[in-house]
This record gives sequence, structure tokens and C-alpha cells, in this order.
Amino acid sequence: MAMIEEIKKLLAEVETYNINDQDDLERFRLHYLSKKGAIQELFASFRNVPSSEKKDTGLILNNLKEAASLKYEQFKASLISNDESYSGDLTLPAEPIKPGSRHPVSLIRREIVTIFSKIGFTVAEGPEIEDDWHVFTGLNFPLEHPARDMQDTFFIEKNPDIVLRTHTSSVQVRVMENSKPPVRKIFPGRVFRNEAISARAHCIFHQIEGLYIDTGVSFADLKQTLIFFAREMFGEKTQIRLRPSFFPFTEPSAEVDVSCTICGGSGCNVCKHTGFLEILGCGMVDPNVLEASGIDSDKYTGFAFGMGLERIAMLKYQVNDLRLYFENDIRFINQFKSSY
Ligand code: PHE
Repeated sequence: MAMIEEIKKLLAEVETYNINDQDDLERFRLHYLSKKGAIQELFASFRNVPSSEKKDTGLILNNLKEAASLKYEQFKASLISNDESYSGDLTLPAEPIKPGSRHPVSLIRREIVTIFSKIGFTVAEGPEIEDDWHVFTGLNFPLEHPARDMQDTFFIEKNPDIVLRTHTSSVQVRVMENSKPPVRKIFPGRVFRNEAISARAHCIFHQIEGLYIDTGVSFADLKQTLIFFAREMFGEKTQIRLRPSFFPFTEPSAEVDVSCTICGGSGCNVCKHTGFLEILGCGMVDPNVLEASGIDSDKYTGFAFGMGLERIAMLKYQVNDLRLYFENDIRFINQFKSSY
């Protein structure tokens, strides 16, 4: 009989073979699947098949092997699940799944958003690829003004009009253009500056900007908002200090320090014995900026502030190499746990 006929006969046999218990199953295995079983025997004599028939014969032989193995495995599995003496404990807890953790910069962002939401600020976002108007001109940076050099800009395809935003203040302009006061918003986002990467600087980082515009908003409101933020973020004993500064889009402007999160102000290595750490820039929105976005500066005043998230993370977590926040080494990231 040609081998192919023999295989077909076995295939039919396997399909109808009656297995009722463990003994039948073992008999089936020995007869078909064991090393000296019928199927193995066929494989052994396969080399004698004329080469013109090898392809078809090989195919059906493989089918036979698969059918027999499948029948064996299926019956074996059904024996186990029917066996009442099987001692697997179905009440055992499942294998624990290790939960992931949020990135420290995300934790800081979420915490800051939560803090400002308590005093009525909502989140707005804007594009990372921006035009010159929203990043500079609309914010009172005159063309050719040296203040543009404060932020080393990445340009897109040599078009000086399209840039990667250097700060989230660009979202300020978009929000002012598209909404009427009162405005009470914060803008978290990624920003880009053409800086060499080191422990203290990176070409990508994150900021949160805040903007409040209404009738009668004063510098006192700004200070009170910043004190509230600083105490929620760094603890209720935190003090703040404002130093006069300059930004083209705010007047007056200030840089804000908080009392050192390590020594509380008495002086240590972290604050370089000054007792204070710089956390953000702020000021009263320059009337030119309001007018440029169509807001009546006789009627409305406002304040703005902006801070770097990595900077806050460094102060909060005492991890002073900026690069670690970008490498995404899970051994680093897994160390940060917080309810945010
Ligand atoms: N945009 C400024 C910066 O990136 C920060 C800032 C925001 C200052 C808002 C004042 C008001 O440095």
C-alpha cells in the first residue's frame, strides 16, 4: 500500500478512536505518539517515498501528527478539569501585577494643576510648533530686541517665522486672543531651547505658566497667589521672596524664591547658604501685551507667572541632574511615589 493510503487510514482511526479514561489515553499515546508509535514509524520510512510523492505525503503526514497530538492534549486537559480530587486551590490570590509609576515630572505637573485648581485656575494647552507672533512679538519682544537672545530658539526648516516654542507664554497669547476676561488659566507644556545638554540644562523641558486677567487685579493678588502656591507645594512654613527682574511681557517683573526646602532658610549646601531657592518668574502683564491680543488695558489688568517643572522636581526630590528626568530609566522613575 502506498504510504499515503496508510496515513489516511490512520487519520480516520485517530479521529474515531474512543478515549474514555486515563488508561485509554495512555494506550492512545503509546500506539500513535510514542517514539516507537505508528506515526514515528511513518516518519522513519518517509525517506523511501518516491520524490514525486514527497510533498503530498509529507503534508498529510504532518496533519496526522497534529491531529493525534491535539486529540491527546484535549483529552488530557478534560481529564484534569473533570478530576474532583485535583487539588488546585481556586481561592488562592492571583499573581500580583506590579503597578507602574508616574514620571516625576508628571507627578509635579499634576500636583501643581491640582493646587491651582483649588483657587479656580483651569488648564489650557497650545501647540509646540508656534509662529513668531505667539512666542515673541505678541509678547512685546520687539524685532531685533536682545531679549530674544535670552531664549535660544530652534527654528523649523530655516523659516524664521516658525519655531519650537521656547516658553509656554505663547499659550497666554492664544488664550487672550480667543477669550474675554476674566481669564484664570494655567498652561502646562513642553518647551524647547537650543542649549547644550548638561546636568543643569536641557534642550527640552517643561513649564507651567499661569495667567489671571480681570478688572482690578493687582500685584498684591499675584503675591497672595504665589504664597498660596508655595505653601501648598513646599509646606505651610514656606516663605517667599520677590526680586525685581525683567521680562518683555510683564511690568513690573520679579523673580520668586522660596525659603530653602532643606534647611528652612538657615542656610545649607542646597541653597548655597542663602536660605532661598529660585522657583519662578512673574509680573503684571504689560499693557502692550493685553492690547496686542485685543484686551482693553484701561479696563483690565492681569498677572502672569511661569516656572520650570524639572526645576521644581529637582527641589522637591533633591535629584539635581536634569538628564535623569529624560532618560526614562525605570530604576530611576520607579522611585517616585505620590498620590498625584
Ligand atoms: N516665560 C518666562 C520664561 O520662560 C517665565 C515667565 C512667565 C515670566 C510669565 C513672567 C511671567 O522664562
